[in-house]
Amino acid sequence: MQQKIIILDFGSQTTQLIGRRVRELDTFCEILPYNKYPEEDDDVIGVILSGSPFSVHDPNAFQVQLDRFVGRKPVLGICYGAQYIAHSNGGRVERADSREYGRAILTSIDHSNPLFEGFGKESQVWMSHGDTITAIPQDCRVIASTANVRYAAYASESVPLWAVQFHPEVYHTSQGKQMLKNFVVDICHSRQEWSPASFVRQTVAELREQLGNDRVILGLSGGVDSSVCATLLHQAIGERLTCIFVDHGMLRKNEFQNVLDAYQGLGLHVIGVDASEKFFADLAGVTDPEQKRKIIGRDFVEVFNAEARKITDARWLAQGTIYPDRIESLSITGMTIKSHHNVGGLPKEMHLRLCEPLQWLFKDEVRRVGRELGMPERLIKRHPFPGPGLAVRILGDITRERVRILQEADDIYINAMLNYRCEDGELLYDKVWQAGAVLLSTVRSVGVMGDERTYEHPVALRAVTSTDAMTADWAHLPYDFMAQVSNEIINRVRGVNRVCYDISSKPPATIEWE
Ligand code: XMP
Repeated sequence: MQQKIIILDFGSQTTQLIGRRVRELDTFCEILPYNKYPEEDDDVIGVILSGSPFSVHDPNAFQVQLDRFVGRKPVLGICYGAQYIAHSNGGRVERADSREYGRAILTSIDHSNPLFEGFGKESQVWMSHGDTITAIPQDCRVIASTANVRYAAYASESVPLWAVQFHPEVYHTSQGKQMLKNFVVDICHSRQEWSPASFVRQTVAELREQLGNDRVILGLSGGVDSSVCATLLHQAIGERLTCIFVDHGMLRKNEFQNVLDAYQGLGLHVIGVDASEKFFADLAGVTDPEQKRKIIGRDFVEVFNAEARKITDARWLAQGTIYPDRIESLSITGMTIKSHHNVGGLPKEMHLRLCEPLQWLFKDEVRRVGRELGMPERLIKRHPFPGPGLAVRILGDITRERVRILQEADDIYINAMLNYRCEDGELLYDKVWQAGAVLLSTVRSVGVMGDERTYEHPVALRAVTSTDAMTADWAHLPYDFMAQVSNEIINRVRGVNRVCYDISSKPPATIEWE
């Protein structure tokens, strides 16, 4: 049986990070909403309670029935989790005099406690809370403090229960990884068996069992997730997998053909559909970003469905949904900033069942699985690209000419990035999460070329660093690289006479302009 750690999510921004840290310990984990602890839990080896935007005294604070697992499984409460455990077991939680936020030094560490195995005399931790624990439950004792927080960590003397008011999952907690390893491996006895190879082996076997001799349809986007999903399925069921790749006309320069060739190299059976006429016709004159997205989403489903219907004996629709997509959809405080579109809304009469073999993986794990499957490194390292393509990188209405201009500028930019080797030997392309050019087609500015005045559009370059696209920072690109790209774009792309670099982080900006 596969062991797993359950992480109960109380809505903290760092819950996913706890999940990643546990996976880095080669241990499978599931992040579940705070009130969804499973009925059957034989395979659960430990439980972690996350932080929360709420205070335990908030009337809307999330409540959980602790006796479902406390005393039966090892438990670790983090931040709100620690306060909730204290509050529900006769301890006391009060508003802190000053918000405890940022770096603090953990002292008076009880080195005999297994949670602190391998810790030094003092250790830096990261705090982020407005409440603080002022009394712990009777059967508990304090195992570490900071200058301002007496009960920075406590443990039960009667059941396997630990609680910390700091965040071990964040980078700034210097021995956070060690602490989580102590909990997951030493306390919960994880066998550390989760690896890309074990995932591939197990998933291929499960897919064969689940799909039998059925035929499966999959929508490819050229991105890493759907490509890895297709390769995995191909390994499981061979030619019973049919992939559909729709060209809406707003892909990168030559991308449709390049991606089709790459897929053929992998042995996949792919139907490429050029539907650009339809998309351009429906988008004509539309300038509102949300409306553009809606039209593209709708058209995409229509085109995809028309192709899918031709495969009359298909029983399943496979999707490259990955874990963060699912967690976002459970998000407690989430709201829609932009309507992302996925392949969805297939007509009911097709009776297709959904197959999502990557649904438990984080992005970096999808890449590791891709490598395990022998996929080409360039395909695995591709930057994410939005479903609506260049349409969300062209301000104002979309025309074939504008797409062509942007394709040229983007192609120069991305190729330069693929060819620029940084001082440490790594390619610049591999250092950034995502990059692309944006055509500011609603803006014009004056320039001079030779002896002639120009009055044309600027191109904005965007490059960000990120781990999950939820937050992002602008990438600090080398000046000589930017100078070279700017020169090449202005000299070679007709219709562009100025290049800017976008230095906005997310939040408050987003990665895409529309
Ligand atoms: P934003 O602009 O919201 O983008 O900061 C976050 C990440 O999502 C990608 N993105 C999309 N992906 N369909 C997709 O499949 C979409 O409609 C879409 N919109 C944005 C974006 O490129 C970035 O990686």
